[in-house]
Amino acid sequence: PAPGWNIAADVVVVGSGVAGLTAALRCEAAGLTTVVVTKARLDDGSTRWAQGGIAAALGEGDTPEQHLDDTLVAGAGLCDEDAVRILVTEGPDAVRRLIETGAHFDESEGGGLELTREGGHHRRRIAHAGGDATGAEISRALVEAVRARGLRTIENALVLDLLTDAAGRTAGVTLHVMGEGQHDGVGAVHAPAVVLATGGMGQVFSATTNPSVSTGDGVALALRAGAEVSDLEFVQFHPTVLFLGADAEGQQPLVSEAVRGEGAHLVDADGVRFMVGQHELAELAPRDIVAKGIMRRMQEQDAEHMFLDARHFGADMWEHRFPTILAACRVHGIDPVTEPVPVAPAAHYASGGVRTDSHGRTTVPGLYACGEVACTGVHGANRLASNSLLEGLVYAERIVTDIVESRTDDGLHARVPAPVEHPEKPAHPLLAPEARFAIQRIMTDGAGVLRSAESLEKAAGQLVRLHAEARDALDENGKTAEPGVDTWEATNLLCVARVLVTAARQREETRGCHWREDHADRDDANWHRHIVVRLNPDRT
Ligand code: SIN
Repeated sequence: PAPGWNIAADVVVVGSGVAGLTAALRCEAAGLTTVVVTKARLDDGSTRWAQGGIAAALGEGDTPEQHLDDTLVAGAGLCDEDAVRILVTEGPDAVRRLIETGAHFDESEGGGLELTREGGHHRRRIAHAGGDATGAEISRALVEAVRARGLRTIENALVLDLLTDAAGRTAGVTLHVMGEGQHDGVGAVHAPAVVLATGGMGQVFSATTNPSVSTGDGVALALRAGAEVSDLEFVQFHPTVLFLGADAEGQQPLVSEAVRGEGAHLVDADGVRFMVGQHELAELAPRDIVAKGIMRRMQEQDAEHMFLDARHFGADMWEHRFPTILAACRVHGIDPVTEPVPVAPAAHYASGGVRTDSHGRTTVPGLYACGEVACTGVHGANRLASNSLLEGLVYAERIVTDIVESRTDDGLHARVPAPVEHPEKPAHPLLAPEARFAIQRIMTDGAGVLRSAESLEKAAGQLVRLHAEARDALDENGKTAEPGVDTWEATNLLCVARVLVTAARQREETRGCHWREDHADRDDANWHRHIVVRLNPDRT
């Protein structure tokens, strides 16, 4: 349908996690008219669920150079070193500005930030809040700042597609808004700069730490708009997710790396610490190594999970340092104070995403991306723990600098809705909502922690069939399912799943968080490179 309502702005920010709200606040401070649109409520994204914290060289004796080294090691040869250098050098000040915005981090008894450790970090450099509720505090502070400064926000606004002008430049986005008064139904925000900050795509798998809104909407939008995506095969599986049964689906409770950072042990079914001897950092090795260690021992013991043992923390430490995790375990009948916690890996983070340069610019002029939806090059083949909130902060700020510096009076301030062509038929047929569960099962079986040419080929075939069924079901109006959040989410999940599987089939090696059973080793001779994908606009 043609947009039923139209508004104009200098910048539209899509998404309301740490990256989106930081970008929006900086835009507003720079005098740009800014609209934030978000699929659910302002605090419903992944940021709120972040536990461990935010990494930055803030501690005595720590340096950006050491943070850089740890990030490059975790990234397994595929980080963009310049992008990482920007992250680690601009990171500490970005965290200080976040504190000025209103976020309260935990402080040590002597004053100053209390810092913890996580996998892959050789130092204590993770700032945290509320013990293990860092993301919730960051989200609270940013949402309050957005409200206090009166930024225009539209909630329950599912982004559909990018609008472009005749020259192929970004001209805004179309949205499907439900129940938000004057902006109800399909409409458009016209703006020459669009900042995608839509988060990740964990819901492409059955079990994930991601909330239900993480359905790859930004990557799918960017692909439909002709943008390049990179590194989609590098899905990070968090090693220690509370095990709720082999058939558990949807968002699963995370047991933060910080629990291991404070001294918890991973033990097998016999109570043996199996990470010792596998890596110099044992339980604090980079998370791909820990996830693989867990999977291997699970296979050896024919077990569905391993255990995280932190009984030695005692009740006081559990209650004060890890209240969120303690509560989540107890809800499921497990008491970490008196018993080891059953854990297994689950999908956690998309290290790849929409390809950007060091200013957050995608390959479509005027379209920016930051946060998990983006691939800035800082994560390489495996993100270092707690670098994601930092990346969201640093690169959101860089985007705003770029928008401000490249603006011209007759460009950003023109406020005249650009001419738009709204496609009569969606480029991809809308899927029925139930397809979401079929996609999740296909991806978990074929493209999960363990992958092989055979499993990926099977998954690719099944995904193609889902797409073909939806296309064949197009009726003469070009409509399959009734447009709505669940149909668009299923459609976006299929789009990103297909590209992810395409990339994973190509990468015939094991590197970082990409683990191929049939290519057990890293192959630098052939695969020291990225896989970049762009949709062919002539095909549906
Ligand atoms: C955690 O707290 O273990 C998650 C940290 C992260 O994903 O960076």
